[in-house]
Amino acid sequence: MNTMLTRKVPSKAERYFSTGVSLITSRGAKGPNVMAAEWVMQISYNPVLIAIFIHNGSQTIKNIEKTKEFGVNVASKDQTTEVNIAGGYSGSEIDKLKVKDIFQITAPKKIKTPMISGCTVNAECKLIRKEKTGDHVMMVGRVVYIEHDDTKNPLIYHKGRYFNLGSTIEQDRKEVQVSKETLEFFTNLAQGKFVLKCTGVLVWSTNKIMVTKWQKTRFETIPFIIPRTGENQRDRLVKFLNKTGFDIQVDSEPIMKRLVLKNTNKIQRINFVLFNGKAEKLMPNTTWKQKHRDVIARLI
Ligand SMILES: Cc1cc2nc3c(=O)[nH]c(=O)nc-3n(C[C@H](O)[C@H](O)[C@H](O)COP(=O)(O)O)c2cc1C
Repeated sequence: MNTMLTRKVPSKAERYFSTGVSLITSRGAKGPNVMAAEWVMQISYNPVLIAIFIHNGSQTIKNIEKTKEFGVNVASKDQTTEVNIAGGYSGSEIDKLKVKDIFQITAPKKIKTPMISGCTVNAECKLIRKEKTGDHVMMVGRVVYIEHDDTKNPLIYHKGRYFNLGSTIEQDRKEVQVSKETLEFFTNLAQGKFVLKCTGVLVWSTNKIMVTKWQKTRFETIPFIIPRTGENQRDRLVKFLNKTGFDIQVDSEPIMKRLVLKNTNKIQRINFVLFNGKAEKLMPNTTWKQKHRDVIARLI
């Protein structure tokens, strides 16, 4: 029997999410308090909004309901003791912030709730929305003051354990050595963009590919466009081909090519979305090119 089909879904599948952990500060009748929360995330850039998801039995929720403010202190990898204490006891049980030699408290800038130092991010928030979601309550805070510490690394939480942030993953891009002229052509099109996004059509005749000359530079490439964000790339390509007088039937299946064009120490990243196309004959301004060192031909 195929073991893949009989494999059981792990009973604690929810533990397979990976998150950071924040120290949520608040204040109330019992004074200032701190709790650990992994369900914390930024949900808007402008205004900067942060949502936290807090269980009903906590002291934190009572505090935030009363004062309508809270602190989000994103824990660094050196703060597992702080997280364990903040997450292992309730403010109704002990005054966690006063536990000897554990929390380093700093004064807030724009709210009245104390903040924690040694974190990667400190955000002071004013409550703007509260909504029960399942067995937790979503509390959305508008950030009124935020700062970060570049020298600290975040604490990662996965399968109930704490981790360090690992090394950066090199992105999977095919490196293509190109001529100075080719690199210049694409860099000019990119106009400083980190990644240039292009959408083109591949028309083959045995082992030759259809290329066209760009009006200004006379540079030869497959017919392609630089699509606008959000628009359907195939529709735009087809419109362009029709307008230019290319009689090409464009396939519907996109082919993705992620490249880094290189010449000496200069590079340009390009994402090509390509569609296979069929044409009965050559159109004006096009030629068949043998698969050669040209960047487009080498994509495939
Ligand atoms: C790593 C970790 C993550 C946690 N994440 C959450 C969370 O996202 N939401 C929540 O309601 N409780 C979370 N908890 C549990 C609370 O921190 C815990 O119930 C705490 O005692 C509440 O404190 P309080 O009653 O002083 O507010 C987490 C605990 C740990 C250890």
